[in-house]
Amino acid sequence: MTQTTSQTAPDRLPPETLRTLFLFEALDDAKLAWLSEHGVVEHYQAGSQLFFPDAPATCFYVLLDGTIQMSRAVDGTDVEINRTDYRGSYFGATQSWLVNATNPENRAQRYGSSVRALTDVRVLTLPAEEFGGIMRQWFPMAVHLLEGLFVGMRASEAIIGQRERLTALGRLTAGLTHELNNPAAAAVRATATLRERVAAMRHKLGALASGMVDPESLMMLSAMQEEAIEKAAKAPELSAVQASDREDEISDWLDDHDQTNGWQLAPILVASGLDTEWLDDIAERIPAAHLEGGLRWITYALESEQLMSEIEEATERISALVGAAKQYSQMDRAAHQNADIHAGLDSTLVMLGRKIPEGVTVVRDFDKDLPPVPMFAAELNQVWTNLIDNAIQAMDGSGTLTVRTARDGEFALVEICDTGPGVPPELTTKIFEPFYTTKAVGKGTGLGLDISWRIVANRHGGDLRVVSKPGDTRFQARLPLVAPEIPGQGNPE
Ligand SMILES: Nc1ncnc2c1ncn2[C@@H]1O[C@H](COP(=O)(O)OP(=O)(O)OP(=O)(O)O)[C@@H](O)[C@H]1O
Ligand SMILES: [Mg+2]
Repeated sequence: MTQTTSQTAPDRLPPETLRTLFLFEALDDAKLAWLSEHGVVEHYQAGSQLFFPDAPATCFYVLLDGTIQMSRAVDGTDVEINRTDYRGSYFGATQSWLVNATNPENRAQRYGSSVRALTDVRVLTLPAEEFGGIMRQWFPMAVHLLEGLFVGMRASEAIIGQRERLTALGRLTAGLTHELNNPAAAAVRATATLRERVAAMRHKLGALASGMVDPESLMMLSAMQEEAIEKAAKAPELSAVQASDREDEISDWLDDHDQTNGWQLAPILVASGLDTEWLDDIAERIPAAHLEGGLRWITYALESEQLMSEIEEATERISALVGAAKQYSQMDRAAHQNADIHAGLDSTLVMLGRKIPEGVTVVRDFDKDLPPVPMFAAELNQVWTNLIDNAIQAMDGSGTLTVRTARDGEFALVEICDTGPGVPPELTTKIFEPFYTTKAVGKGTGLGLDISWRIVANRHGGDLRVVSKPGDTRFQARLPLVAPEIPGQGNPE
């Protein structure tokens, strides 16, 4: 702090000047004389800091000349909340009248924000303790009323905070229910269709076995069915336009070959990656009389495969969502303790070992001098799991996964870095929102980063953010080395 107060006698303001400040204009001569005697004028150079948040609030300030900026840290960045050059604006220990309150908790008032001089600034300062004392003496009833207002406000803030948490939980449940509903309905639908198809196949099998088709043709048909299923499994994804073109071609082919209801078969064949070439091949191998029955037999099998994949995808998505919900619900189980952060990182890497593809090199860059960190260990493991999981998926098979730890001031820094394509700048906040995912349906819940952020920020008083450019993406978790008091987590508040 570059503060230049007069070295000899402190600079005071005469009562007449004090009366020109709106705060003091109605005070009588005796009170102004007291203020004149106790208030000291201080000068601050442009760019210097008058006070920082959380420092003991020792001074009440009244702006005389210049411009000040008041700011507060929100999510790790400084946000300006006020900027003023209004003569008489007051700030600092504005609740100093609470300092000597009967309630001992209020003894240690702290500044709630930081104030910086934007130009050279002149302020009148009053020691908080003396100012608070005189306020209680001069205006006892007003101070009682203010105290009531202040305590009442804090109580309602606490209640609203709790209510907000409940609402957030409600929103999450609603979101989760909605997300679960889609795959569950899809699975039910697919199962019903599958049941019909299997019944139809049983029926067809009966017809085939009753001697209409000779055993040799039956064997061939069965082989063709297997071939088609294999082809379908490797089918490349088609764009909507490609799929519709292909469907037209196949419909035409089926019409040309006198197949009734060809329109029913075409979409199934397209979805299985089959084309007219494959149909030509089939037509050569199956006698014309059996072509229709044969094609139907093959498509039943293909459709069943598709339906089973749909059911598999839907149920996998349900398990993923249930897994994520479990992560939420386990949040307050594990104990809070000081622990080595590396143990959790190592065990997470072991747990994920099977998921890390061969093309991905894992680099451990650990600062072994890092002191133990106050943490909910099991929860942090979920954070590392989610971040490493994302990094692996982003690299799509090859790259370098770096897990780094370092000390960053009063924080332990854990970086999970990948060499994938990165997060575009416009998405760096969005990706932390619940249910935001760029992964294909069934692949991601979009809850990983939301859960991780809650654990780091809400449960540990830390910070989780991403710094990314293509080829170098770092998810940085900062965890305080001294556990802060977190409201609503069992700490006295
Ligand atoms: N390391 C990364 N590189 C690039 N993009 C990422 C990275 N990590 C996350 N993202 C982006 O953020 C999105 C949200 O991530 P989040 O972990 O919340 O959900 P998800 O990974 O899609 O789903 P889930 O975690 O359930 O598998 C991802 O879909 C992806 O687009
Ligand atoms: Mg994820």
